[in-house]
Amino acid sequence: MSGENAQRRTNFITIQDDTPGYRLDEFCIPKHYEDDLSRVLIPAGLINDRIERLARDIVEDFDEDGLVALCVLKGGYKFFTDLLDKIKGLNRNLGRSVPLAVDFIRLKSYVDDQSSGNIEVIGGDNLKNLQGKNVLVVEDIIDTGKTMQKLLEILQGVKPKCIKVASMLVKRTPRSSGYKPDYTGFEIPDIFIVGYALDYNEYFRDLNHVCEINEAGKQKYASK
Ligand code: HPA
Ligand code: MG
Repeated sequence: MSGENAQRRTNFITIQDDTPGYRLDEFCIPKHYEDDLSRVLIPAGLINDRIERLARDIVEDFDEDGLVALCVLKGGYKFFTDLLDKIKGLNRNLGRSVPLAVDFIRLKSYVDDQSSGNIEVIGGDNLKNLQGKNVLVVEDIIDTGKTMQKLLEILQGVKPKCIKVASMLVKRTPRSSGYKPDYTGFEIPDIFIVGYALDYNEYFRDLNHVCEINEAGKQKYASK
């Protein structure tokens, strides 16, 4: 398949609303964050295993036409590098391979734990390079879906051959616009999470598990 004909994948891991998650003392957490988190929601090992399957689904859906993986910075960088490593592994070891190019875009919409409502593209290459290409947008989280819908509008403007979206996380929230990505790692409850490159005012990107921030953490790292 050349990407454009692929159907949206509906396989993902659902983290239920009543999940207890894991206690912090069951995992290794940086000392400087020990008091700022309430629990581990998704351990890094499980994230790694899920990405292995996402990579397989993506390689099945694209062909020798290749794809441009577009990393949405900053939150997407961990998922981007881990996903591409897995795709590269499949490319080395399967009888067929999907040529990969990479590109980056930087967006900003969150202050504290609230979306500011408008997204800004604040960096990245000239998007014109994406014209006629199979683009795979690689994002950390779909929350309301509005950021992704605005980004897709911007990208459509440069006329790629197709655009698919892979998001590590999708939040189950009544604020959702209804947008759903083509590839989803985990569907999670409507709570503010950090780690695995997801931040709270730029903190917690250096935490490898996806964790729930607590009130003390929100206060300690508040923007004002
Ligand atoms: N955590 C970090 N960044 C985010 C979140 C979240 O829960 N939702 C949207 N951006
Ligand atoms: Mg963010």
